[in-house]
Amino acid sequence: MKLILLGAPGAGKGTQAEKICEKLNIPAISTGNILRAAVKDGTEMGLKAKSYMDAGQLVPDEVVIGIIKDRLNDDDCKNGFILDGFPRTIPQAQALLDSGVDIDKVIDIEVPDEAITKRMSGRRVCSKCANSYHIEYKKPKVEGICDACGGELIQRKDDAPQTVLDRLVEYHKMTEPLKGFYENLGKLKVVEGQEDVADTTKLVFAALED
Ligand code: AP5
Repeated sequence: MKLILLGAPGAGKGTQAEKICEKLNIPAISTGNILRAAVKDGTEMGLKAKSYMDAGQLVPDEVVIGIIKDRLNDDDCKNGFILDGFPRTIPQAQALLDSGVDIDKVIDIEVPDEAITKRMSGRRVCSKCANSYHIEYKKPKVEGICDACGGELIQRKDDAPQTVLDRLVEYHKMTEPLKGFYENLGKLKVVEGQEDVADTTKLVFAALED
């Protein structure tokens, strides 16, 4: 199955992508994680992306379109994939459509802005493997340490309160119009993402089968 997860920053796309990945055994592709890894490695792409990401703005379309085109050619994407964080603008969605990739479903996870800002302050991510946790809703077994690799858990730079607000403004302006784009293609499924993680997962799985 070829899926897109849409939703505001912090709506739970990465969290639900992990659950779908386990259920369907298809890779979850997060443009955010790919870009953060490039920033950490100091690659040319990372240097280009860093200032946009730190400011809560979108990285230019040509950069992320290139990333996704390369990644979708990998062998592990042959039986399907989950796109988490792509597309995020109409030109990105159009580029995906024009490249002939036939998306089966687009799941939009809806969470009000107030709930997002509250959630983001509690998110912690692994400094080594990028696994994501929450100080209240998804605690690691040992405080401050990643369950998967033992790496140190840190707060993402773009989870600072003002940057979260800037990312929400960018989301409403640039990404929200994608709902109409995919609704017109008959691909859009909307789920409420305000429930706890397990209940949201049930709604996401129901949307997959719908
Ligand atoms: P990216 O990393 O994609 O960030 P994002 O879309 O803003 O999404 P997040 O990773 O912040 O949140 P999420 O929806 O995955 O939520 P999560 O599951 O972690 O992108 C970062 C930056 O990269 C962008 O700002 C941009 O600059 C650039 N970029 C990336 N893609 C791009 C593109 N296509 N074009 C241009 N630029 C691009 O959950 C959040 C927290 O809440 C976690 O702590 C989690 O444990 C908790 N949580 C999740 N679900 C629940 C629940 N149901 N109840 C309670 N807590 C929950």
